[in-house]
Amino acid sequence: MTDRPRLSTDLPHARRIDLEAEADLARCGALKDAWYVACLSTELTAKRPLSRTILGTPVVLFRDEQGRPAALFDRCLHRNARLSAGATFDGKLGCPYHGWVYDASGACVEIPSLGPTQRGSVLGDDGHAREGLSLRPCDVGRVRRFPTREQDGLVFVLMSGDEATARQPPHRVPHWGEPGWTSYFMVTRFPNGVTNLVENFMDVPHTVFVHKGWFRERRRTQVPATVERTATSVLVTYEQEQDELTGAGFLLNPTGEPMVHTDHFYAPNVTRVDYLWGSRSGYVISSQVTPIGPLDSLVYTSISYRLPFDLPGDLVARGLRRFMFWYTTQVIGQDVDIMRVQRDGLRLGPLEFQSTEADLLHADIEALRAWWREGGQGDGPAPAKRRISFWI
Ligand code: FES
Ligand SMILES: [Fe+2]
Repeated sequence: MTDRPRLSTDLPHARRIDLEAEADLARCGALKDAWYVACLSTELTAKRPLSRTILGTPVVLFRDEQGRPAALFDRCLHRNARLSAGATFDGKLGCPYHGWVYDASGACVEIPSLGPTQRGSVLGDDGHAREGLSLRPCDVGRVRRFPTREQDGLVFVLMSGDEATARQPPHRVPHWGEPGWTSYFMVTRFPNGVTNLVENFMDVPHTVFVHKGWFRERRRTQVPATVERTATSVLVTYEQEQDELTGAGFLLNPTGEPMVHTDHFYAPNVTRVDYLWGSRSGYVISSQVTPIGPLDSLVYTSISYRLPFDLPGDLVARGLRRFMFWYTTQVIGQDVDIMRVQRDGLRLGPLEFQSTEADLLHADIEALRAWWREGGQGDGPAPAKRRISFWI
């Protein structure tokens, strides 16, 4: 093995993780310039608003007259009631307290106490002006609005509030709608912050402990890999074609084809794990992490798979899908548990991570996320490509 990293100089980044700042809209730097998943498309109906917290900020989502998603700061201009406790009708959002109505741009368009003319039926224009009262709903101002996008079954929101600051388009769901592939989503609340979660989703060594028997058995073998960091991503290519997945892995590769395994981190909040066997069969897990608070996140995981053969009939396909959903739910549940265990350790005092060669990819993730958090100006962490190996 050549080009071994010198650990003392190559892994200095852990000290720069600031979980509090990462999850705070006012202090997260360029992390607010990424599109975060707010909900599944199916979760946002025309019937009722949806409440979310993203980067510590309360957001209310609803659908406008055309069915497009809208996102506003979740607080009424009048007496500050939470708008997400209200109702949607005709593509507008009504506050539950005194019924002020807002459109998708955040403008107040109706104030019921001003009566049907909405201009103050008692005092009239002159009287209102004399008393210093606002005459029309549009005069009371606007609730802060956040840009939204909808694609691949997901609704995204941009917390900077300004589409011009978006650093990249919303992340695409791998193989979404592609013939031959089956895809589904899982939505999971994780008791930990984004940096720790994306590290977990890219981490092979934990699989033989946390998912023992479910995903991978401990085999005491060495895994060589290449870790490539660019300005926007970390790509890990594993050079171990004999690596075997247990559980659903067996179903997807019954004939024991060599496995091609790559893990991708797309800054600042997305991971993608690809297992491919032969020319046809594959299993791709993409996780988009939405920060709620320093140790609280929502993860939208898409699972896509393609079998090495066509299934005989819909019933079998549905059965397999149910099995896959059950299986991935168990595995994700194990990660939720271990992320809670880590969170409890993090709460004991200032974060102090020690890293080894097996953590090089995590150090790269930390470096990229730290650069975003610090504002993302200039070139960022230099591109680097290194070979590593670790034991599982
Ligand atoms: S607090 Fe919203 S209408 Fe009064
Ligand atoms: Fe895991």
